[in-house]
Amino acid sequence: MNTDLKTQIIERVTPDLIQVEQALEDNLAPHLDLVKQIASHLLFSGGKRLRPLLFIHAARMCGYGGRNEALFSTMFEYLHAATLLHDDVVDGSALRRGRDAAHTQWPAAQVVLTGDFLLARALDVAARTRNPRVISVVANITRAMSEGEIDQLDKKGRTDLTEAQYMTIIARKTAVLIQGACRCGAILAEASEEEENALADFGFHLGMAFQMADDLLDYTATADQLGKNPGADLREGKLTLPMIYSLGRAGSKDREWMVQMLTDSTFTPEQFRKLKETLESLNGISYTRKTAQGYVAKAEQALGIFKESASKTILNLIATYAVHRKV
Ligand code: IPE
Ligand code: IPE
Ligand code: MG
Ligand code: MG
Repeated sequence: MNTDLKTQIIERVTPDLIQVEQALEDNLAPHLDLVKQIASHLLFSGGKRLRPLLFIHAARMCGYGGRNEALFSTMFEYLHAATLLHDDVVDGSALRRGRDAAHTQWPAAQVVLTGDFLLARALDVAARTRNPRVISVVANITRAMSEGEIDQLDKKGRTDLTEAQYMTIIARKTAVLIQGACRCGAILAEASEEEENALADFGFHLGMAFQMADDLLDYTATADQLGKNPGADLREGKLTLPMIYSLGRAGSKDREWMVQMLTDSTFTPEQFRKLKETLESLNGISYTRKTAQGYVAKAEQALGIFKESASKTILNLIATYAVHRKV
């Protein structure tokens, strides 16, 4: 089912992916070799390019007739790449897309500054749209993402994080970017206000589900599948929905050792396995999956106003993939 879904999407978007790859290379344009090395280490390491694809198909579904789809789509991948460089430093993550995270090969300060360079590339492409609304959406994404990451960092280790606080964090750090990619597709296609809002609604709900799925995979996937180390959230003291829900339902004994696991990052693989079983039995895993599926259903509903088209099919396939994915 998953492989099928992925194949179905890839079959439909391969020509777009080729154009996006080319545009990412053409527009990176660093003056310094060091910046090129660090940025390329992350940028060309096998990302799914989901955000550029969402932008392109949102635009096309709204009848975009211009020739700059691929160029404009790079804004969202440059932004994404910038935040991944920053995020891996902040989270102290060793692996990204199956290879060593950039800050394990270059000093963290250089990696953070390269993140800023990528952010500047995104703003430059935004300016090239000559559309003030697009520039404003991109500025707003940047602001929301920094605040989401800072808020998450500030609340790290807090075992009383509520579901509502978690939702606010993931909205800012993940959903706002995906929403922005979809909204800008509509704006540049000169879609109606109704269509633009429907696409923003689609992107937001998809983004929320996407991050919940990422948080689930951190408990359920293997390092080989993920290309990053599972159990990282727990090791970092980062409370995500499977844990928040389960803590709320645990008896005092379970609760005590779950909190212990969260505060002591030296847990063994065996202890991690036992924790996963506890999350299963307290329904934290199934609750998170169901909640994510609810968001996907809302995302798909938002597309109801559009007539059927190849791009609409792709957007819907990506929405389903967001919760069924293994990577
Ligand atoms: C990872 O995003 C970060 C999250 C928002 C969960 P992706 O899963 O889209 O990462 P790549 O670009 O495909 O590696
Ligand atoms: C998403 O959060 C990262 C950003 C939005 C920058 P995570 O910290 O969960 O992402 P991964 O797991 O490192 O990819
Ligand atoms: Mg991270
Ligand atoms: Mg994660």
